[in-house]
Amino acid sequence: MTYARQVRKAVLPVAGMGTRFLPATKVVPKEMLPVVDKPVVQYAVEEAKEAGIEQFVFITGRGKHIIADHFDHAYELEHQLKKRAKDIELRGLLEMLPQTGSLGFIRQQEPLGLGHAVWCARHFIGDEPFAVLLPDDLMVGEPGGLAQMVEAYDKVGGGCIVAAEEKPHEEVKSYGVIAPGAKKGNATEVKALVEKPKPSEAPSNLCIIGRYILQPEIFKELDRQERGAGNEIQLTDSMARLIGKMPFHAVETTCARYDCGNKVGFLQANIAVGLQRPDIAPALREALKKLKLCEMD
Ligand code: UTP
Repeated sequence: MTYARQVRKAVLPVAGMGTRFLPATKVVPKEMLPVVDKPVVQYAVEEAKEAGIEQFVFITGRGKHIIADHFDHAYELEHQLKKRAKDIELRGLLEMLPQTGSLGFIRQQEPLGLGHAVWCARHFIGDEPFAVLLPDDLMVGEPGGLAQMVEAYDKVGGGCIVAAEEKPHEEVKSYGVIAPGAKKGNATEVKALVEKPKPSEAPSNLCIIGRYILQPEIFKELDRQERGAGNEIQLTDSMARLIGKMPFHAVETTCARYDCGNKVGFLQANIAVGLQRPDIAPALREALKKLKLCEMD
């Protein structure tokens, strides 16, 4: 069986409750919080498109309908922008619209964990490889994070790929952690995976971050609906059972990754992305100078 088939579909789980961002996320999903002037979820969709993804499915929950609205026409707004000759703004809105029929939404009726969220996409994915992007992990770089993973996927002969980053030892308890094997270029063979281990029991400090390329065999494992760490249905546990059955690698990309699911990561992302934007970088630099950041140490 060959696994290096083209990755055309992506799953974007957005059904989490975002409790770390309350009260902001009481009404507004955390995926709609903006980094500079774009919701974090839009960065993920753009990254996926750049990597060759043609079809997207969002795993949503109650109160997440504005994500669907964001990727649809806003006729009144478009009409007003046209009337006021705001051509650049109008073009921006129209260019971000996905192709008709390329976006789907599936409700995860209960937030039972990331593994359960991905399992909800099984009928949409069918029998082909697919990507998973957690939108609150913002990856900034060129080429984008998923594009670098797809390149590695083709080089190693397919199978499963997770994006990974080395973390300080005391932080591994918040991540899926990799027992690494041989390294070739930016791809490290994955020998085992443990979800949220105690630092003393972690096999390394190489941690999974929010990008995956998976094979449809994962759904057979997820069918078991077994609870893992935090009493949630963990994606890591099912991925671990695929090791040895197909190539499995961790890829360290050259992108900067910001965890926009936590407050400090989100603020850092706004500053980092803002400083890369020619339209606001000079003013932002001046504003940051006024904060006298060095004196705050
Ligand atoms: P998080 O661990 O960040 O959980 O989920 P959360 O609920 O979104 O946020 P906090 O911890 O309460 O602040 C990681 C990713 O998995 C999705 C989330 O939307 C996020 O993209 N997820 C998580 C689901 O789609 N369903 C779930 O049941 C759990």
